[in-house]
Amino acid sequence: MKLTIVGSGYVGLVAGTCFADSGNDVICVDVDATKIKALNAGKVPIYEPGLEELIHKNVREKRLSFSTDLSAAVAQSEVVFIAVGTPEGETGDADLQHVLAAAEQIGKALKRYTVIVDKSTVPVGTADRVRETVAKVTSQPFDVVSNPEFLKEGAAIDDFLKPDRVVIGANSEQARKVMGELYGPFVRTENPILYMDTRSAELTKYAANAMLATRISFMNDMAMLCERVGADVDAVRKGLGADKRIGYPFLFPGVGYGGSCFPKDVKALVATARDVGIEFDLLRAVERTNEAQKRLMLQKASKHYGELAGKHFAVWGLAFKPRTDDMREAPSIVMIEGLLGKGATLVTHDPVATDVARRRFGARVRYTETPYEALEGADGLFVLTEWNEFRRPDFDRMKKLMRQAVVFDGRNIFDPSRMRERGFVYFGIGRP
Ligand SMILES: NC(=O)c1ccc[n+]([C@@H]2O[C@H](COP(=O)([O-])OP(=O)(O)OC[C@H]3O[C@@H](n4cnc5c(N)ncnc54)[C@H](O)[C@@H]3O)[C@@H](O)[C@H]2O)c1
Repeated sequence: MKLTIVGSGYVGLVAGTCFADSGNDVICVDVDATKIKALNAGKVPIYEPGLEELIHKNVREKRLSFSTDLSAAVAQSEVVFIAVGTPEGETGDADLQHVLAAAEQIGKALKRYTVIVDKSTVPVGTADRVRETVAKVTSQPFDVVSNPEFLKEGAAIDDFLKPDRVVIGANSEQARKVMGELYGPFVRTENPILYMDTRSAELTKYAANAMLATRISFMNDMAMLCERVGADVDAVRKGLGADKRIGYPFLFPGVGYGGSCFPKDVKALVATARDVGIEFDLLRAVERTNEAQKRLMLQKASKHYGELAGKHFAVWGLAFKPRTDDMREAPSIVMIEGLLGKGATLVTHDPVATDVARRRFGARVRYTETPYEALEGADGLFVLTEWNEFRRPDFDRMKKLMRQAVVFDGRNIFDPSRMRERGFVYFGIGRP
């Protein structure tokens, strides 16, 4: 099939590349000419494991190309995906300006029956708004489908190629058929395509993210309780997750959830509920817990050192999670700003997010190539992202490099008693 993907970010690039890899002809479009120029020069503007190789392969085999010319791309496509950003608006609702701008441009470019697919995470009713926007500027036949994306950054390609499920909200049989054909190659192991109406599909995406965020905040509050009553949250987690009704995923306490999705999607769902007269108190509490959690390690440090001014710290991990360079809403930002605000100096290390961090913090912090360099002369180490390479470091070497062997383990990747045996002052989350 001939496809256009409008928006070549984390979702658009992965979706476009995976569709190309299953044999479709795909044009990824973006308004950002620098991004498209880089892609055409073989440079991939984001870090996502396996993406670069897959892009190069599909470009070489001439199934994938990049362009700023939306009209030309849409004119030759049977299916057009909207995968532009839907950032947080002023009142917590999702800002749809990019989605609706894309819809209008798509509408103007239609040359025949086309399926227009909302892949961006958009509030209930957006498919209807996209339909109205397109209808105003075209007399060509078209359908609007809601097909929310559930991929995780860091494992995006695998998630896209082998999704737990594909959700397709469509109000027309023709559109359902086209989407079913397109996704056929990705659902060969009985992972289902779930067909539904567009509103239910739109809401499913928010429900999923809100549920995952709720589990995280629940565990963060549970961790706090464990600390106060002398229990170990990791033992509780194991006992809890063994219950088949509950399961293990997303039961890890930490320094709070971040990223480009959970924070804005939880807020947007609260805003959607408020618009129809419902105060979603549960989700507001989820958010409150998360905001507090991002500051927890700062509080622990203040309590331990008393004064943070003049102290020098190492930070391991800047990205909001491992295997990505994405720092949008990363808890590390709150921690770093907090430490700098209190007069501390910082040296940071992240395996892939340093360039992104440099654009944000500039020369206010230092950046190192290796985790150990960051430790030289440090009064303490904050571990903020659970990159695999941080899990089994050379502890003796760490101790020799640091001025004070103090570790604030924001992801509970080290064993508290072993750390104390090794001579560290250790602070985890929810552990005795
Ligand atoms: N990142 C994720 O892990 C993830 C997962 C699932 C769903 N989503 C959702 O997918 C959507 C996209 O997220 P993302 O992380 O890929 O965003 P992103 O910011 O990485 O990419 C969006 C791209 O759209 C481009 N764009 C904006 N307006 C445009 C227009 N009119 N025409 C062409 N291009 C345009 C931007 O220049 C940018 O490159 C969001 O709604 C997000 O909530 C994201």
